Amino acid sequence: MPLVTTTEMFKKAYDGGYAVGAFNVNNMEIVQGITEAAREQHAPLILQVSKGARAYANHTYLVKLVEAAAIECPDIPIALHLDHGPDFETCKSCIDGGFTSVMIDASSKPFEENIAITRKVVEYAHDHGVVVEAELGSLAGVEDEVNVSAEDSSYTRPEEVEEFVSRTGCDSLAIAIGTSHGAYKFTAAQCTRNEQGVLVPPPLRFDILEEVSRRLPGFPIVLHGSSSVPQEYVKMINDNGGKMPDAVGIPEEQLRKAATLSVCKINIDSDLRLAMTGSIRKYFADHPDHFDPRQYLTPARANIKAIVTHKLIDVLGCAGKA
Ligand code: G3H
Ligand code: 13P
Ligand code: ZN
Repeated sequence: MPLVTTTEMFKKAYDGGYAVGAFNVNNMEIVQGITEAAREQHAPLILQVSKGARAYANHTYLVKLVEAAAIECPDIPIALHLDHGPDFETCKSCIDGGFTSVMIDASSKPFEENIAITRKVVEYAHDHGVVVEAELGSLAGVEDEVNVSAEDSSYTRPEEVEEFVSRTGCDSLAIAIGTSHGAYKFTAAQCTRNEQGVLVPPPLRFDILEEVSRRLPGFPIVLHGSSSVPQEYVKMINDNGGKMPDAVGIPEEQLRKAATLSVCKINIDSDLRLAMTGSIRKYFADHPDHFDPRQYLTPARANIKAIVTHKLIDVLGCAGKA
């Protein structure tokens, strides 16, 4: 089937108490690993492309890779989404260039400015049959905050969401409830340690999510920064020449809980990077004389498929929902 918007997927996800996985893509092997998992699990899928991915791989290559995935997976709905669109021009370029969904991320701007730029993107996108994700609250910098009032200021303020959504007309809203981008989401000082010495991060702010949902009934909420940073892959990296001490992510059971609530889209990128990097490092440690990319990218692609399969079934709950 042709690429779809997220409208139908989110409606079904909201009503069904699960979330759709949004996975970042940068090359063919990543696209293949993700889509093979989604096809086998019969799961709806969002493939998302960042500004950095477009700079690395080129807009056209990425669109064509995702279109190829849709041809190879005719039985599941796939949306092509711009992740963290920084400005109107980038959003317009993706809307004009085959994307079915864009994010305008003006969350670092003051409230009125965020509304104005988001509204402009929404008007253009809706005129072209494309949907828009916006963001209120800020994930970045959570780790720098040391006191409660500063911490609170970066979370989404529930009292702002109704005005923001009604004035912008956005189709989904990313909120900040304590998730964070990358493989080092929290400093050791922000965490406790369990008996095994593993860092345990502070819990997500479900009180904020619940208040947002109460104010926006039926409206799809998005969580960014939702990699779990599997210690299995951190260890694989560290055992094979890497150095990633104390990498820590969001516990999967908290994401599972969010998926049963109003969260309809969960963004996962770092976990795929860890799986790919760990697999390649291990491959070279085991086969120092090999130099064929098809050989070392084969286990990398297989492990991306394995981790996405696990997310679809055990975290997002969207397996079998296509
Ligand atoms: O949230 C950002 C995504 O993980 C994409 O990262 O900007 O390095 O492509 P990137
Ligand atoms: P992670 O870094 O936790 O994978 O988050 C990815 C993301 O939010 C992409 O927008
Ligand atoms: Zn993000």
